[in-house]
Amino acid sequence: KTEKLLSVLKLQPVVPVLIIEDVAHAVPLARALVAGGLKAIEITMRTAAALDAIKAVANEVEGAVAGAGTILNAKHFEQAVAAGSQFIVSPGSTRGLLDAARDSDIPLLPGAVTSSEIMALKEEGYDVLKFFPAEQAGGANYIKSLSSPFAGTLFCPTGGISLKNAKDYLSLPNIVCVGGSWVAPKELVAAGDWAGITKLAAEACALRG
Ligand code: 3PG
Repeated sequence: KTEKLLSVLKLQPVVPVLIIEDVAHAVPLARALVAGGLKAIEITMRTAAALDAIKAVANEVEGAVAGAGTILNAKHFEQAVAAGSQFIVSPGSTRGLLDAARDSDIPLLPGAVTSSEIMALKEEGYDVLKFFPAEQAGGANYIKSLSSPFAGTLFCPTGGISLKNAKDYLSLPNIVCVGGSWVAPKELVAAGDWAGITKLAAEACALRG
């Protein structure tokens, strides 16, 4: 499953983190991101529309790899998988969530920040971790410091990352990709400015050219 997860995360330098309020936005938004080169798309379970949005993107958007984010427990995990998610992201981890993930073919990217959290997830067999909230928790310098004690552990940082600082992270050897919401700003989504989103996605995609 680690290989499966890595193959998704390596598709692009930036995984868009989406908060979809209106399910009607899901397909055009995902198409716009895929057109800009961002195929793996994380739809967060922060809205009532999230599960329908995942379903729509998984079924209707050619080239997209639909994933679910902000998965906080086993129930979320199961609902997101049933909706067609091909990867699952959580800001942290709980026993219940890890048990649900162990019994599934769909890979989990669980979050960790502290050494103890990283060690606990390593014991569970996780070598690819989310790091959230990245900027607030210590940023690229913090993750750089983890590379020596935790050689072999890779991180996908999210939280406070944008075009301005993404390269600080992407230049580190223990970072597989970053995540962020900046490629799908609320205003552009509300205005249906899909061309604008494709442009932001293409810029993000070019971060690792
Ligand atoms: C996440 O869940 O990964 C974050 O909400 C994304 O953070 P950002 O909005 O600061 O990019």
